Amino acid sequence: MKALLILGLFLLSNTVQGKIYGRCELARALKKLGMDGYKGISLANWMCLAKWESSYNTKATNYNPGDKSTDYGIFQINSRYWCNNGKTPRAVNACHISCNALLQDNISQAVACAKRVVRDPQGIRAWMAWRSHCQNRNLSEYVRGCGV
Ligand SMILES: *[C@@H]1O[C@H](CO)[C@@H](O)[C@H](O)[C@H]1NC(C)=O
Ligand SMILES: *[C@@H]1O[C@H](CO)[C@@H](O)[C@H](O)[C@H]1NC(C)=O
Repeated sequence: MKALLILGLFLLSNTVQGKIYGRCELARALKKLGMDGYKGISLANWMCLAKWESSYNTKATNYNPGDKSTDYGIFQINSRYWCNNGKTPRAVNACHISCNALLQDNISQAVACAKRVVRDPQGIRAWMAWRSHCQNRNLSEYVRGCGV
């Protein structure tokens, strides 16, 4: 019984799923929203980043106990600097949006905020997952066969 309860809580907290994009579906959506070449960042880099940050799941969230911030959505954008979730200490909200807006099936606000992130000098290096899984890699597989 207790195990079932714990399983239930786990399912509630982790699989309140929104839209999980297909690889090519996301590649086409990002291209349409002007991500291919934005600030010199190719579509394959954005795809690799989204894959390793969220597995293309718009509802992905992760809490960071260190600074009590949370990462939101397909690009795992952080509440310490970029969005407002009403509970992160010393939050900046540089994208001027509610963090929940980053969890919508419609990714246009998440894309707009990701563009804001890479306008800062560190660019796409802001994402640790990009540095560990995408930087200096051959990323052609992320967009292969998508016609983008
Ligand atoms: C997604 O949201 C934007 C505004 O945030 C809107 O302009 C656009 O029409 C929406 N797209 C769809 C497919 O609903
Ligand atoms: C990247 O990988 C693809 C497929 O494996 C290959 O066709 C392509 O030549 C590679 N590109 C570079 C620059 O190595």
